[in-house]
Amino acid sequence: MNLIVAVDQNWGIGKDGDLLKRISGDMKYFRNTTMGKVIIMGRRTFESLPGKKALPGRTNIVLTRTANYAAQGCKVLGSEEELFAEIEKYDREDLFLIGGAKMYEEYIDCCDTLYITKIYETYEADRYMVNVDKRDGYLVTWESDVIEEDGLKYQYFKYERK
Ligand SMILES: NC(=O)c1ccc[n+]([C@@H]2O[C@H](COP(=O)([O-])OP(=O)(O)OC[C@H]3O[C@@H](n4cnc5c(N)ncnc54)[C@H](OP(=O)(O)O)[C@@H]3O)[C@@H](O)[C@H]2O)c1
Repeated sequence: MNLIVAVDQNWGIGKDGDLLKRISGDMKYFRNTTMGKVIIMGRRTFESLPGKKALPGRTNIVLTRTANYAAQGCKVLGSEEELFAEIEKYDREDLFLIGGAKMYEEYIDCCDTLYITKIYETYEADRYMVNVDKRDGYLVTWESDVIEEDGLKYQYFKYERK
């Protein structure tokens, strides 16, 4: 399974149920990387999507313990057991864990490849991703140049399990 996330310098990823910053280049990168794939998210991340609708062109899976949860255009699953049974149906390389903090914490160990956008800025945050640079187990196997958009610098990294 793959993981994709954008972090700030403190590995913050969200605040008040939303992203820290919308960066149009990074949104396109996310779209291109996940297009045609299977995206797996927690209920709170689903609720942060525009119009609370599935992202088009992808199989959307939402995890929640809320009974009879309706998520337009998504497969709704109620437990880890259901998730593991569902993802058996797909190639591992096609699976993308797209957040949020709770889901990254629970399932990072299932992920062999991490696509991490580092935003060279610090924001007030209430959700964080584990700092994989301080955690043994992954190596950076590719990095883009530093990109600048409206004065904001960011960079894409690909990490793979050692
Ligand atoms: N920077 C980024 O790249 C990025 C990416 C994604 C999200 N985010 C941000 O992250 C924040 C959301 O993260 P979050 O940690 O609050 O929430 P989350 O991980 O999106 O969703 C957590 C919810 O998922 C469900 N869930 C998780 N594990 C489950 C399990 N094993 N079985 C059944 N249901 C399970 C539960 O839903 P119920 O409560 O309904 O049971 C849980 O409350 C937002 O601010 C969002 O913008 C940032």
